[in-house]
Amino acid sequence: MYKIIGTGSYLPSNCLSNEDLSKFVDTSDSWITDRTGIKQRYFVKDELTSDLAVKAGLAALENANLTAEDLDLIIIATTTPDLTFPSTASIVQRKIGAVNAACFDVQAVCSGFIYGLSIAEGFFATKKVKNALIIGAESLSKLLDFEDRTTCVLFGDGAGAAVLTEKTPEDTSGLIRTSISTKGEFTDLLKTDGGPGLSQSAGVVHMQGQEVFRHAVSNLKKVCLDLLAKEGMEKSDIDFLIPHQANKRIIDSTAKALSLTPEKVIVTVDKHANTSAASIPLALDWANKQGKFKKGDILLLEAFGAGFTFGGALIKW
Ligand code: COA
Repeated sequence: MYKIIGTGSYLPSNCLSNEDLSKFVDTSDSWITDRTGIKQRYFVKDELTSDLAVKAGLAALENANLTAEDLDLIIIATTTPDLTFPSTASIVQRKIGAVNAACFDVQAVCSGFIYGLSIAEGFFATKKVKNALIIGAESLSKLLDFEDRTTCVLFGDGAGAAVLTEKTPEDTSGLIRTSISTKGEFTDLLKTDGGPGLSQSAGVVHMQGQEVFRHAVSNLKKVCLDLLAKEGMEKSDIDFLIPHQANKRIIDSTAKALSLTPEKVIVTVDKHANTSAASIPLALDWANKQGKFKKGDILLLEAFGAGFTFGGALIKW
């Protein structure tokens, strides 16, 4: 199995506060802050998702003391690929020179990074890879309708990455368990209105916010409690919750269900907004760089997104 040996992240330079948005959208800092906890977000100008992924990926490789040529696998979780094909992972491979890596994208929207961690489990279990780079990267701003204030205030762009390496028999750190699920009956509650099957544009985000909120809260609680139960672990065993950063109220509700005090919950939604598949690795890298984790800490990562997809990962740091 694998352990995480490096993290990295990247945000575009164009930062917009809620105040900035309110100059061209009918909204306010107080509405956005009260309902979501978001204070600002970053939007790409000229960069592509692969550019964000390259910067986050190289930072993670540096943190792990590996080179691109050491990689056997690159998985990019994204719902905003540069092109319909080839995969953004193939483009990143070319840009960083990871010539030995097999590369593909995962499209599980906001749960994509958790899906990536879960898929990687199989590659390590069957000893097909020694080193893998899992990146969550998004340019969500390209799917936003800036005349729809119910969605455009919620999202941001960015990328985060983690380097995974095969555990040695002596390693006590590493992945404990992942869980991934999908409820396809709810695809209409959060979706774009375009894409190659429908039109020549990728479309824009449409969401039934209150319904999504309700499903997120109930499914995330279940995912987290099920993961603990399957490992015979208690809520008190969790040292840090690293949730998908969609909404502070959803995060608070999961933290409450797990009886976690605020110090144990990593929150970056105020700084990054909802960056979809990038949100967990961005939060993970932020907390790692803050020196929050110590060896042996139990981390619980969880995500919920369009699809509906959801899942979690228990990791011993
Ligand atoms: N600024 C100001 N007012 C806004 C607004 C904005 N950006 N967006 C909506 N409003 C208004 C609405 O028009 C509505 O006004 P009305 O009562 O006059 O009709 C009012 O605020 C309440 O809207 P509502 O949609 O009921 O708000 P809400 O409390 O459900 O909050 C969300 C909206 C989107 C913040 C909330 O539903 C949510 O967080 N949902 C989950 C979204 C999410 O996380 N999605 C991603 C999952 S991966």
